[in-house]
Amino acid sequence: MNYRHAFHAGNFADVFKHVLLTRMLVYLTRKDAALRYIDTHAGIGRYDLAGDESCRTGEWRDGVGRIDPQHMPSDVRELMQPYLDIVGLNEGEVLSHYPGSPLIAQKLLRRQDRIICCELHPQDHALLDQAVGRDRRVKVIEIDGYTGLNAFVPPPERRGLVLIDPPFEERDEFDRVARTLQQAHAKWSGGTYVVWYPIKDRGAERFAERIVAAGIARVLCLELSVADPFAEGPLSGTGLLVINPPYVLEEEARVLLPWLTGKLSRDTGAGWRVERLTDF
Ligand SMILES: C[S@@+](CC[C@H](N)C(=O)[O-])C[C@H]1O[C@@H](n2cnc3c(N)ncnc32)[C@H](O)[C@@H]1O
Repeated sequence: MNYRHAFHAGNFADVFKHVLLTRMLVYLTRKDAALRYIDTHAGIGRYDLAGDESCRTGEWRDGVGRIDPQHMPSDVRELMQPYLDIVGLNEGEVLSHYPGSPLIAQKLLRRQDRIICCELHPQDHALLDQAVGRDRRVKVIEIDGYTGLNAFVPPPERRGLVLIDPPFEERDEFDRVARTLQQAHAKWSGGTYVVWYPIKDRGAERFAERIVAAGIARVLCLELSVADPFAEGPLSGTGLLVINPPYVLEEEARVLLPWLTGKLSRDTGAGWRVERLTDF
């Protein structure tokens, strides 16, 4: 396990993932009924943008560093507001840290909701525990996220969202995600499952085809590229496969993704995609 998210926190892929995550959690918390958020690969929860790792790559500068709340069209601003509030990007605020997915969930969820975070790296687990572990709604567990997911579904609340956000260091990561997702979905078909993936080659497309071929319905594909994702060079394409998305997500993504692509684009070949892969 060499991957440390601190090198990448706040980059274009994090902005894409976290803006959409806030929209899904905002929707799910509209109903009073309790929900559960499960983060299978949680990271450390809060990232110092002046820290050594962030400074070495500077990736956040072409990600969250490009998000300026001024001159945002009003429809975009309305949808971005929960993200702006949590990250601290409103007018007059100075960005020093960037929140990870567990912190975003912690900010948006309510007293009746519960959060489970799996983080396998011992140091990252300890840092995450410091960041969010004192909240009695939150459990931070040093466990393999794939094993954890199957142990934690279905949750007692029978409502909620699972974020699967692996580092994709291993060649078989898409296989592991597909297998685990199918097992979890067989036990809890009503949950919202969100899988983050990098776009580099045909791996992401084959993964989506496999999920659809497994007979899982209500699969939405959301993607954003800041340059041609298949060209040589640093990661420039990212996606989320969402199973059982909130029904407003597709419409919201059609407002957010064109604007985000314009802001985050690095080169020709930038673009976005919102597509239903199955019947809804
Ligand atoms: C992409 S980062 C997570 C970022 C986080 N979800 C966010 O959005 O802020 C992936 C994390 O998974 C951890 N990790 C790697 N393999 C794991 C596994 N099998 N189970 C749980 N955590 C794992 C890594 O240590 C790393 O912190």
